[in-house]
Amino acid sequence: MRAEREPVVAIDGPAGAGKGTVARLLAERLGYRLLDTGAMYRAIALSVMRAGVDPDDAQALARHLDRIDVSLDDGRVRLNGEDVSGVIRTQEVGQLTSTLSMQSIVRDKVTPFQRRAASPGGVVIEGRDTGTVVCPDAEVKFYLTASLDTRARRRYLEVTAQGASVSYDQVRLEVAARDAQDANRAVAPLRRADDAVEVDTTRLSVDEVVERMLQIVGERRCCTR
Ligand code: DC
Repeated sequence: MRAEREPVVAIDGPAGAGKGTVARLLAERLGYRLLDTGAMYRAIALSVMRAGVDPDDAQALARHLDRIDVSLDDGRVRLNGEDVSGVIRTQEVGQLTSTLSMQSIVRDKVTPFQRRAASPGGVVIEGRDTGTVVCPDAEVKFYLTASLDTRARRRYLEVTAQGASVSYDQVRLEVAARDAQDANRAVAPLRRADDAVEVDTTRLSVDEVVERMLQIVGERRCCTR
């Protein structure tokens, strides 16, 4: 029988559904560790970009992956020891990340690390496949959604606040393209786990989403102890 542990809370959903923000707040409120799996994929994309590796050249990509080390600790993501948490948040890195994360050699590099990091429990893990592939036995699973316009508006506000000069229409197109790419890929596509609770954040404030999720975690927690 499995030893009792604090729950693993897995949060998946498309870009802009609010996963990053609510995962961080939920982890703070619960006193759990936060695992941002997208940050690991982004760090890989950054290193591929910096090294000028052709993402379609499978052999070059495999050689490059062998040479790099990506880790997550204290909410910071490190690439060969360098804290890259800030520089991975650009549209350019996001776009390449979506392409690279379709490849199984890339996923095979980070999935075991994420699984090990989540296994003791007491963790909020956030991404696209955390409830389906990384932690299929997570005690609590959420699938966050929001309308395309809402998600595009959130992304637009986020990137323009960082100083990027893009139009709303451009961001909307990019979000839609990323949705299609993440959902239609052959390996670990974005999908709601059968046992995930779906939360549509279109008309909810961040606080409302977090409160709703806390309530569900509380209910599950008392039943698994
Ligand atoms: O959540 P994010 O925007 O940081 O994710 C960046 C990209 O990484 C996104 O296009 C999908 C991919 N990703 C993934 O394939 N699997 C995960 N568990 C997390 C992110």
